[in-house]
Amino acid sequence: LTSPPLQINRTSHHEIHTSAASSAIWASPLNNYQRKSVNTIRSRSLSTETTWNESSLPEKIKSLDEYKVLYDFSIKDPNRFWKMAAERLDWYRFPTKIKNTEFDYRCERGVDIKWYEDGILNACYNCVDRHIEHDHSTAQQVALIFEPDTPTESRHHVTYGELLRDVKKFANVLKKHGVKKGDRVTVYMPMVVETCIALLACARIGAIHSVVFGGFSANNVAERVSDCDSKIIITSDFGVRGGKCSPLKAKIDQALKMKQCSAVNTVLVFQRNHGMPEMKDDCADLRSSLEWKDGRDFWVHEEMEKVNEICEPERMNAEDPLFILYTSGSTGKPKGIVHTTGGYLTYTNLTFKYVFDYNPGDVYMCTADVGWITGHSYAIYGPMSNRATTVIFEGVPTYPDVSRYWNIIDKHQVNIFYTAPTAIRSLMAHDDKYVTHTSRQSLKVLGSVGEPINPEAWEWYHTVVGEKRCPIIDSWWQTETGGMMITPIAHAWELEPGVATLPFFGVQTKLFDKATKKPLNPPNSGELCISDSWPGQARTLYGAHERFVDVYFKQYPNYYFTGDGCEIKENGYHHITGRVDDVLVISGHNIGTAEVEAALDHHDHVSESAVVGYPDPKKNQGMYCFVTLKDDVEETEELRKQLIKLVRDMIGAHVTPDFIHFAPNLPKTRSGKIMRRILRKIVEPDISNLGDTSTLTDPSVVDDLIKKCPRTK
Ligand code: PRX
Repeated sequence: LTSPPLQINRTSHHEIHTSAASSAIWASPLNNYQRKSVNTIRSRSLSTETTWNESSLPEKIKSLDEYKVLYDFSIKDPNRFWKMAAERLDWYRFPTKIKNTEFDYRCERGVDIKWYEDGILNACYNCVDRHIEHDHSTAQQVALIFEPDTPTESRHHVTYGELLRDVKKFANVLKKHGVKKGDRVTVYMPMVVETCIALLACARIGAIHSVVFGGFSANNVAERVSDCDSKIIITSDFGVRGGKCSPLKAKIDQALKMKQCSAVNTVLVFQRNHGMPEMKDDCADLRSSLEWKDGRDFWVHEEMEKVNEICEPERMNAEDPLFILYTSGSTGKPKGIVHTTGGYLTYTNLTFKYVFDYNPGDVYMCTADVGWITGHSYAIYGPMSNRATTVIFEGVPTYPDVSRYWNIIDKHQVNIFYTAPTAIRSLMAHDDKYVTHTSRQSLKVLGSVGEPINPEAWEWYHTVVGEKRCPIIDSWWQTETGGMMITPIAHAWELEPGVATLPFFGVQTKLFDKATKKPLNPPNSGELCISDSWPGQARTLYGAHERFVDVYFKQYPNYYFTGDGCEIKENGYHHITGRVDDVLVISGHNIGTAEVEAALDHHDHVSESAVVGYPDPKKNQGMYCFVTLKDDVEETEELRKQLIKLVRDMIGAHVTPDFIHFAPNLPKTRSGKIMRRILRKIVEPDISNLGDTSTLTDPSVVDDLIKKCPRTK
């Protein structure tokens, strides 16, 4: 990959591999190719033999039978299936090797995952340039619709042409500041158009972006900056959410004072509403009081003036990392999940197209922040590689009122809407009139992700929001999986409330019994594993491959362990039951209990702590913290408040303990291990079902905890 960058311009277009299939999709708005290929699929119920010509993938999955034919094919011949999927992208060199993966840590090769390993492509080129090159009129198509926190604030639409210009310029700003292919770039931004520009610019020059959610504390930013050894940070002077200004650059300043960040030499700062007249007073104050270190801090709008608009995309190997995204584990520090270029982009491209049944011209909106994987895969890479028009929403569902989402849907005529159960539950708590006074006639598909959606929330979403017209796409997946894994496909089959239904193409699920570690035959419930690799899968943890193998591949040798429980029903439908490890899923955010414990233990008065979750009807789970204080420390309300604040300060404002229970003793085994199973039962509460307590050093501890626990009252 040391060859000079390929000149991509109109005259050298022939050098880009464009399959007949993909050029037909992009060049022909009539989609004749798509219709033909769908029509040639013959479902099993009609004929025992498929007449599908198997030369390219259909544009749409129309029925369960069509799904079954293609699913079987994807399992029997993954190389051919995923080769056809890769044809949806444009490659500088189309891969000759498709799948080369090993899940068994016991063999000589060890866990090793490679897809399209000799292919060469660029993710940014696939998300922006190629659409314009294939059809020049796309330069005028709106790529991003920015919906600011305050609905009355001026908003802007960004076309693919404008996006390409800005991405190229910002990529040149990065280059000017010394960023090279393979360098890690930390991104700490609000949910604005500039964040998409920043990510695509990194991808364009082959830099690896590492987005840190804007709600995380300076402490957490510092930890993530140093873990991937990033020398440059992209941020914004502030962000606005729910009418409040949040200081982003100031948090970065705080992080940069910590010694973990001593290698950072450049901070590029976007102005939140550059060129816009309106600014709230508190935001203006924040901007004027910013610390500024000359030679390190630069305003992006000033830097953009100094560069030109010529920037060829870097030729990337399919297995070159595209990004790192940190996620909470059940133990220890956050895990830097590494996704690579070719497999990730192929997988997010295909899942987005099929699952949402995205058609040219549809307006799509995903409410996830780009700080989470959903924002990466389904606000940026999936939709943009499909030439979609995407709404980027800066705010929250309840500001200025609880009709906000539905008003945005009407304002921008959104056809496909993807959100989290926690938002749905918080909105359904209000009178239905806040929904029904809006039209929502544009809606065709409604999606849900991030946590189990309870049947009541599902019904409300389906009936009140979608007026029973729109399928509910309850999609199960993870940061580690890159894209959707178990999910309905819009309009293809019958749905059941709260059931994620069937695995996506190429995904093979397997249940195991937690106690015996033996495989279970469905219908059954057990721990969910995946039997073979799919292209969107994470390849490793940044700088910690051994931990990657330990966490995901050792529990059940030769399988990827998801950490989730699942029930597979008689009809093959999958119902995800929730985490089986020490990760809490609260309002759609993954929170490692170990991280919270580490924060609590930081307090001078705390001797040890144990954090467990309990079911919560709104947030999915609540956070219950048992805290043992040091000798002679008094249990006071003030201390309780201090501990809650400490957790919020150390991790982020989205992580707030619901209960702090001062416990002089915790239930422990003779080897000194805290029995979390029992603590979970106490707070659930399910005290009639505590299980075996005989191995505890002092079983009376349990009675004391039950007496004092407010949830058992
Ligand atoms: O427990 C599952 C839950 O969220 C976890 C993954 O969280 P994260 O890596 O942050 O990615 C979230 C966005 C993909 C899973 O292990 N989860 C996610 N989607 C669902 C879900 N649980 C039930 N149903 C879902 N649809």
